[in-house]
Amino acid sequence: MSAAMNILLIGSGGREHALAWKMAQSPLVDMVHSTPGNPGMDEIGPCFDVAVTDIDKLVQLTLQVEPDLVVIGPEAPLAEGLADILRARGFDVFGPSQQAAQLESSKAFSKARMVQYGVPTAAYGEFTDPVLAKSYLRTLEAPYVLKADGLAAGKGVVIAETLEQADAEIDEMLSGKFGDASATLVIEEFMHGEEASIFVITDGAGAVYLPAAQDHKRAGDGDTGPNTGGMGAYAPAPVVTDDILARVKAEIVQPMLKGMKADGMPYQGVLYVGIMVTESGPKVVEFNARFGDPECQVLMKGLKGDIVPAILGAATGGLEGNEEAFEALLELDGFEPTATIVLATEGYPGSYAKGSIIRGVKPANELPGVTVFHAGTDIDEGGALVANGGRVLNVTASGETLKEAVDRAYAGVEQIDWPEGFCRRDIGWRALS
Ligand code: AMP
Ligand code: GLY
Repeated sequence: MSAAMNILLIGSGGREHALAWKMAQSPLVDMVHSTPGNPGMDEIGPCFDVAVTDIDKLVQLTLQVEPDLVVIGPEAPLAEGLADILRARGFDVFGPSQQAAQLESSKAFSKARMVQYGVPTAAYGEFTDPVLAKSYLRTLEAPYVLKADGLAAGKGVVIAETLEQADAEIDEMLSGKFGDASATLVIEEFMHGEEASIFVITDGAGAVYLPAAQDHKRAGDGDTGPNTGGMGAYAPAPVVTDDILARVKAEIVQPMLKGMKADGMPYQGVLYVGIMVTESGPKVVEFNARFGDPECQVLMKGLKGDIVPAILGAATGGLEGNEEAFEALLELDGFEPTATIVLATEGYPGSYAKGSIIRGVKPANELPGVTVFHAGTDIDEGGALVANGGRVLNVTASGETLKEAVDRAYAGVEQIDWPEGFCRRDIGWRALS
């Protein structure tokens, strides 16, 4: 491998800024190009203006840039088959095929594979008919978990406390609340326990594990308020003990990878395994076909080694049997406890205004251990940094302990002068309490 690798990274969130930041530090990498990128990614390498949903233009752009590796950040282009199209054109791609990405893009597909391969998860039924759905509901105990089959921007899961609410939700979902995404419903048994996210970098056969992370999905302190894409994260997550990780590997990841491969849809990329650590062990809550956002930010920041060999290995093969060597390059033993605080625009996850001016990113970045990743930011006509989305900045910090990392991250937040923004004040509470 020459030392002049060019990467094309697709995406524009905090996840992609963190990936660009980390990959650009690799001695294997010459340049990280991004599309559409954001003002933070712009400081790392050239950004193009092709959206992640414009598959034809993304293919054209890839042909133009001729990267040595394409890294696909978000789920939408994976679900559209971008990885397949680019591989057919001869590019090395980090990201699963359209078929394999159904582990995220169809909850019914995902549940069916788990059952087929004997992977522990909540009992479920799959429905298009409201009468059958409601009668299945009556075999379960409250609360009731209702999931739109398709991609619904993180909003497709509803937990209903009563049968009445669940019945009403079934009617709404099946009559198009999330469009085609909720034409089919998955209804699940509710699992009790603590959640965690495990990230597996895989070429379809070999598997390299990153430290377990925990996300904070609710908008408000103490895990209250509406669900969001994630308001903060930290790693490592102590709930994933060595014993739990060993069970995740043996009972979940190995059978999934083996089964997908045997069924002709090997999974290549990063498999996001959302687990519930229950009394009877780890069970799958969901799979995603990409890194978590904001979990990726803490993983990239806390890793001391090089992420690029594992990413390249997933894209080109050769991980199987060499996992220890790849994990050594990641320097997992040196992983520093890390936390990230999401700064969001007032109103998120509901409606919010764009264009408010943000100051103080530079002094925050100068604090010890702190890196601010951009998500929904933009530069306005006057050259000022402004908010351009719901989740806007990820103030991320490492430390010798998680407590130090969290304190440093909140010290970074104090430097940010943005009256229109808000954040949670309790990131990391489960591990710190
Ligand atoms: P999902 O998009 O499938 O991860 O669901 C979103 C959130 O709903 C998860 O992060 C969990 O907090 C919760 N959830 C989903 N499925 C279940 C379940 N079967 N039991 C308990 N909580 C669940
Ligand atoms: N942070 C949750 C997700 O990326 O799906």
